[in-house]
Formats: sequence, C-alpha cells, structure tokens
Amino acid sequence: MVKKITVNTLKQYKERGEKFSVLTAYDCSTAKYIDQAGVDVVLIGDSLAMVALGYETTNAIGVDEMKIFTGAVARGVSHAMVVTDMPFLSYHTSIEDAVRNCGLMIRTGANGVKIEGGGDYIVSVVERLSQVGIPVMSHLGFTPQFLNVLGGYKIQGKTQEATDKILAEAKRLEEAGAFSLVLEMVPEDSAKYISENLSIPTISCGAGRYCDAQVLVSDDVFGKFSEFKPKFARKYGDMHSFIYECACRYNEDVKSGRFPSDEEVF
Ligand code: KIV
Repeated sequence: MVKKITVNTLKQYKERGEKFSVLTAYDCSTAKYIDQAGVDVVLIGDSLAMVALGYETTNAIGVDEMKIFTGAVARGVSHAMVVTDMPFLSYHTSIEDAVRNCGLMIRTGANGVKIEGGGDYIVSVVERLSQVGIPVMSHLGFTPQFLNVLGGYKIQGKTQEATDKILAEAKRLEEAGAFSLVLEMVPEDSAKYISENLSIPTISCGAGRYCDAQVLVSDDVFGKFSEFKPKFARKYGDMHSFIYECACRYNEDVKSGRFPSDEEVF
C-alpha cells in the first residue's frame, strides 16, 4: 500500500532536519509522473493562470477553474500531499466564503489549501479553516495576489525590520494553525532567520537554501514556459524545444504522406 504524505510527515521532516520537495502540477498525467518521482507535495499553484492558461497575472483565475485542475491533479497522485492554491477573491470576502470555497477543493481531492498573506483577517481565516479540518499552507514574502499593492515583482524582507515583520506574521499564522509557510522572494539570510524561529516547515520559493523545503513551478523546471525564467528557478529540461520539434516532425510527416504508415492503419 502506498504511504500518503500528510501534514504529520512534513512536521516530522522539519523535526528531523530533512528537506522535502514541492512542485506544481496542473494536469493528471504530469501530476502522476511527479508523484512517481517522489516529490512530497504537489501544488496546484494559481501560477497555472499564467503558465498554462496564458493570463498576465495569477489573479485572472477563479474557484471554478481551480476546481477542475485540482480534480485532475488529485486523480493522478497517490503518494504526495495535494495542496491547491486558493485563487484571488476566493477567501477574501468573508470567513464563510473562505470555508465554502476551500471546502470545495477538499471535496474535489485536495489534502490542503494555500492562502496568501497575513494580518488580522487572514489569520482568522486560517484559524477557522484549521478548526473545520482544512490544512492551510500559508504564503508570505512576495505574494503574487498582492502584485498591484506591492508595485511589481519585488524582493521582500530586505531589512531586519521587514524580516521581523514577516516573522511576526508567520508566528501568528503558525499559532492560528497553518501547517507550513511558503516564503517567496525573500533574501536567504532573512528566510533562514524566519525558518529557525518557527516550528512549522518553511518552503522556499526564491528564498534560498535554509528553508525546510523548496518549491518551483513545474513549467520552469521542465523548460516548458518560455516567456521568462525567474532567477531562482532551475531548468532541468527543454520541453519547449521538445514539443516544438515533435510538432514540426508530425506536421512534416502528415504533409509529406509519411504519416500514417502501413502499421498505423486498419
Ligand atoms: O502559484 C504558484 O505556483 C505558487 C508557488 C510557486 C509557490 O504560489
């Protein structure tokens, strides 16, 4: 029987000082291969709005779309923990809306949700979600859903004061019940300081080497998304060229009559 990764597994990793991996997926077959590779958490990031659906920002996607992609990924995963990103406006209007929308993702197959930000309201959302049995991965530092107020893709936590502010928010989220924390685009030293002062695991998204885990967008890892590559991402493949070459060869074969062959017809 396949042993499922849970919030407890991730807690134990932190306690033992063992790193774990988080990678995004947006469809069933990709999620299946990522799971088979041993990745611990598969995240249906709202980055899918940009890398898979071609929108300019992550804010373009809503609950109905996220539900479809969450179901697809969950059906492909048997070992990893499945966490879905709650989209912009899905948890902001009221705690009741947050519970309903997050609950829908759990019903669709997610094992937890990710929500961005801190402050009184978000802390109370995290608290309620935890109370009703919905594990929450928090997200601080650069929070893409706040792009318009942050004024662009800017590194967060550059000073001791700013780092202390992130840590204070993180502690409140931890106390409210968050089981982990993504730190995005935070200097390595700041992320180290924050990680050392929390008991929940921190997940670096461009926050250096000293977090308890790393997360990347799979389209960056596979070299599929070609619009831009964040400094902190590492490209392990060149799916962009692979897809292009396969499509070119298919196109040529069809047009020259090389496809289909004798073996490919009834
Ligand atoms: O949307 C996303 O994919 C994310 C991760 C990169 C943390 O939020």
